[in-house]
Amino acid sequence: MNDLTPDREERSAGLKGLGCSRKRVEDARFTQGKGNYVDDVKLPGMLHGDFVRSPYAHARVVSVNKDAALALDGVVAVLTAEDLAPLNLHWMPTLAGDKQMVLADGKVLFQGQEVAFVVARDRYVAADAVELVEVEYEELPVITDPFESLKSDVVLREDLAGQTEGPHGPRKHHNHIFTWEQGDETATNQVLDGAEVVATESMYYHRTHPCPLETCGSVASMDKVNGKLTLWGTFQAPHVVRTVASLLSGIEEHNIRVISPDIGGGFGNKVGVYPGYVCSIVASIVTGQPVKWVEDRMENLMSTAFARDYWMTGKIAATKEGKITGLHCHVTADHGGFDACADPTKFPAGFMNICTGSYDIPVAYLGVDGVYTNKAPGGVSYRCSFRVTEAVYFIERMIEVLAIELNMDAAELRRINFIKKEQFPYQSALGWEYDSGDYHTAWDKALKTVDYEGLRKEQADRVEAFKRGETRKLMGVGLSFFTEIVGAGPVKNCDILGMGMFDSCEIRIHPTGSAVARLGTISQGQGHATTFAQILASEIGLSADSITIEEGDTDTAPYGLGTYGSRSTPVAGAAAAMAGRKIRAKAQMIAAYLLEVHDDDVEFDVDRFAVKGAPERFKTMKDIAYAAYNQAIPGLEPGLEAVSYYDPPNMTYPFGAYVCVMDIDVDTGVPEIRRFYALDDCGTRINPMIIEGQVHGGLTEALAVALGQEISYDKMGNVKTGTLMDFFLPTAWEVPNYETDYTVTPSPHHPIGAKGVGESPHVGGVPCFSNAVQDAFRAFGLRHTNMPHDHWRIWQTANDLGLHE
Ligand code: CDP
Repeated sequence: MNDLTPDREERSAGLKGLGCSRKRVEDARFTQGKGNYVDDVKLPGMLHGDFVRSPYAHARVVSVNKDAALALDGVVAVLTAEDLAPLNLHWMPTLAGDKQMVLADGKVLFQGQEVAFVVARDRYVAADAVELVEVEYEELPVITDPFESLKSDVVLREDLAGQTEGPHGPRKHHNHIFTWEQGDETATNQVLDGAEVVATESMYYHRTHPCPLETCGSVASMDKVNGKLTLWGTFQAPHVVRTVASLLSGIEEHNIRVISPDIGGGFGNKVGVYPGYVCSIVASIVTGQPVKWVEDRMENLMSTAFARDYWMTGKIAATKEGKITGLHCHVTADHGGFDACADPTKFPAGFMNICTGSYDIPVAYLGVDGVYTNKAPGGVSYRCSFRVTEAVYFIERMIEVLAIELNMDAAELRRINFIKKEQFPYQSALGWEYDSGDYHTAWDKALKTVDYEGLRKEQADRVEAFKRGETRKLMGVGLSFFTEIVGAGPVKNCDILGMGMFDSCEIRIHPTGSAVARLGTISQGQGHATTFAQILASEIGLSADSITIEEGDTDTAPYGLGTYGSRSTPVAGAAAAMAGRKIRAKAQMIAAYLLEVHDDDVEFDVDRFAVKGAPERFKTMKDIAYAAYNQAIPGLEPGLEAVSYYDPPNMTYPFGAYVCVMDIDVDTGVPEIRRFYALDDCGTRINPMIIEGQVHGGLTEALAVALGQEISYDKMGNVKTGTLMDFFLPTAWEVPNYETDYTVTPSPHHPIGAKGVGESPHVGGVPCFSNAVQDAFRAFGLRHTNMPHDHWRIWQTANDLGLHE
């Protein structure tokens, strides 16, 4: 007979499982300077690589003279495309099915493009030698505007000249990449033609950059004796890197070990494969020494993957009462010199076809044209799931514009058009099946909390006071309601370079009842070591404190597609739960044997199996773990391990309701955020404290993008924002207080009902900040103005509206 204290509630709390704001276990090392980042990897005899980069955005490379660089003491090698060509490594495939030069092969297509790779004794010698490499360029006409590019006689990609078919279908022009269409254009146009009201707007979602605190880098170490390559790097998808490295180099995959150590933020910037990774591998093979490459901040901003750069035109049809009847969207997407967008293969514009948003729109069409220009390649989903930020910005601006057209309140217009709770699972006009949602409840809660009516009254009073000359400050109420689509994704339609986007978890329970779990994902600050252990604790009944989480080492972790697009919880989190359930199934058989009853006569109860109807007869999971290794159980193998490869049946669709209250000084253009309220629904909440942290981070990056962050170019293709003096990275100074809130609408297909959350606040935050700025000027006739709303642009908007007269 067992003692039944502590009680169920106390035992449950002791597990620190689902719903517990458990402190982040990884922070002990981060806060004490004990993290282990790529640049902390130091190997005996390690050499250092640095790039010679093009100062021109478009030029022919006439010659490269390495002599002076090679003569410098400490320089070991200088690699150019000619050196890589015999290995067939001077070009590499991109994630979007295009190919990209590793080192300039005859010409350069963007400023900062890699031309030669210098390998030297230390980083300083390598940097000095970069200056000594003499490159002769012949300048070519530069195109930075995608519309101009589609009209120009200048052929940017000479390697593709004459090719009328690309990986995503026909090419209309030598600088055109693809056309991607979704929905029914004829039906949409019919609705638009016959509509009572049509609002049309064009908007530019500017080019920006994820800007993680740690830049990209790698260390390659080729052991020629054993034929083994070890590669440390800032990789958001280490297994994919291993497969690609094997395919490119011909080294068998089991002889390559890829390690993503601690990563200082990714936000999409570390999904793609960069020339630095390839060059460090080649240099290690050539020199027989380990080679490190770590880019500096300017290189990161100028040449690694950009985000956004979408020119979007929308037409939205509605009845006079505000019921939306159709939506048409066209995008001209500037992809730079190479199409290296990190999207699932079948989605060349990512999940842009979620642009019908949270609204029940019966018919819609999306067309996207990808275009080459003389800008850096990349096209990553900066803290969003494959172009969802663009999609949500588009629809949330179109709603505001329609509200202006209808002379209606924008909150009410949203409410009229939300997909209703009873319509889920909801089939969107552009092809998605939304799993679950309760938008009206979330919206009502948000508007009530901020006293929306009171805010509108205050705003109207402020407009009158401004007109009377009693104040120079206007007030904006920014609204946004977003639906994300995260958890890429079902193998049936999501792959990257042919690799299906499942994910995995492997658990080993040790005899004393502690455990290690390894997953195919890799945290870049999201706190996976804390939260995956919580999912497992609830599933297998061992305390989260007794479960170690490991990720990022391809020699030990099961194959997975990595961490980006908030896919970790929807996919790897589901794999963890499923692996936990396999452990539990075996534990049930062991418990039944130990308790001398039939398997069906025991039931799981928090941290134990007990005999049904006799709770005092039980075996704890610790007892069971010990027995699994130390007791001969008829018909069962010893040990307690499980692995799950999880192919999700659908994406998950988190959503949220955001409100921003902003005061704007008309004379200086300075916005002051008075209040920011963010309600997120990510289904079952694993760790509320971590969710809150994710929301704060995502909102801050949203503030950055909406209010100033931009990668901009001059006509010559020079990057004007290549340093943190010019590129806005917000600090505590600019960041307001955020109020967070939630509702819980579980995902019906995820084993624990969880949806992703990491990117939601960014996706919902950008339109909310932008709408606040634009709403402040609505009473004075503003319909739309492009981001980023920095002080100068806001001042200009006020000026254009005649508010300075
Ligand atoms: O893929 P990524 O880790 O970037 O995004 P995520 O799956 O949205 O998870 C971000 C963090 O929030 C992880 O530590 C998750 O465990 C946590 N999270 C949570 O506590 N509850 C949820 N419903 C979703 C995420």
